[in-house]
Amino acid sequence: MDDLRAKYIELIAKAGDEATLEDLRVKAVGKKGEISLQMRELGKMTPEERQVAGPALNALKDEINTALAAKKAALADAALDERLKAEWLDVTLPVRTQRRGTIHPISQVTEEVSAIFADMGFSVAEGPQIDTDWYNFDALNIPSHHPARAEMDTFYMHRAEGDDRPPHVLRTHTSPVQIRHMEKFGAPCRVIAPGRVYRADYDQTHTPMFHQVEGLAIDKDISMANLKWVLEEFFSAFFEIDGIKTRFRASHFPFTEPSAEVDIQCSWVDGQLKIGEGDGWLEVLGSGMVHPKVLQAAGVDPEEWQGFAFGMGIDRISMLKYGIPDLRAFFDSDLRWLRHYGFASLDVPTLHGGLSK
Ligand code: PHE
Repeated sequence: MDDLRAKYIELIAKAGDEATLEDLRVKAVGKKGEISLQMRELGKMTPEERQVAGPALNALKDEINTALAAKKAALADAALDERLKAEWLDVTLPVRTQRRGTIHPISQVTEEVSAIFADMGFSVAEGPQIDTDWYNFDALNIPSHHPARAEMDTFYMHRAEGDDRPPHVLRTHTSPVQIRHMEKFGAPCRVIAPGRVYRADYDQTHTPMFHQVEGLAIDKDISMANLKWVLEEFFSAFFEIDGIKTRFRASHFPFTEPSAEVDIQCSWVDGQLKIGEGDGWLEVLGSGMVHPKVLQAAGVDPEEWQGFAFGMGIDRISMLKYGIPDLRAFFDSDLRWLRHYGFASLDVPTLHGGLSK
């Protein structure tokens, strides 16, 4: 019995899996197992021998069964430990490195522009994309007979039969947000208003929907000099090139007086455009001092307040900064294009963390 005990206790200790354990159980305490066979021998013994051997065999059987159960539990624990190790997951790791979606260059540039102007004390204002012709035109000193209305290729919304109120329009520029903002918050103010605008036009450099960012700064003593400084500061930060020069050309907008179109310095070398160097100029925005009639329409006293406004094409500056040749590709939803020109979703542009790098 001691030999049997020693043999099975050792084999059970060595068993590496449940199948081996089951095999051992059959061989030791199964119907035809060694211990069971010994128990059958009890009948041939004298009563005295049986009194000693019987309890001893039962105790051995119990001992083996206990050892088998303990080993079985230990194997299950070890298996669970293995699994926990193998299936371990660090939930603090960043999301999958193989990115699926990307941030559209227009969204990226809108964020970049907002970050730069926020640093100069501008907040972001918004207005509706479907607006009344009063906000889009009249309040901006563009009366109904004015040629600018025709030039803007405006989309007019349909009105029900018999409803002869003037139609709503898809805003042709972000300038109506100037009016809405001053109406609501008065002066002084310093805001930008990025967003979608619409004009009925389609070719390599025009799409019926595109993006602008409006700028508006109203205070007691704001001048064209402040405008020039703000814009040069903006372009240097945006193109990530120090000291970009701007050129102001006299122009005309009904809502500013005086008005200027603004160009940035660039060069064309071997068909390659470089911003901030050379003696070429690229037009990037319209601007000027807000017309007194515009201030008045928005409920701001032109005797007391003055300021500048500008409107810039977001699509255009995105093309310039990121070398995108065709405007229409922005709105094609071509996945190959989006993967190539898109930005990683967690790289939020900030001035301290970097705009695009
Ligand atoms: N709204 C003008 C446009 O769309 C741009 C502009 C805005 C010009 C503000 C001057 C001042 O072309």
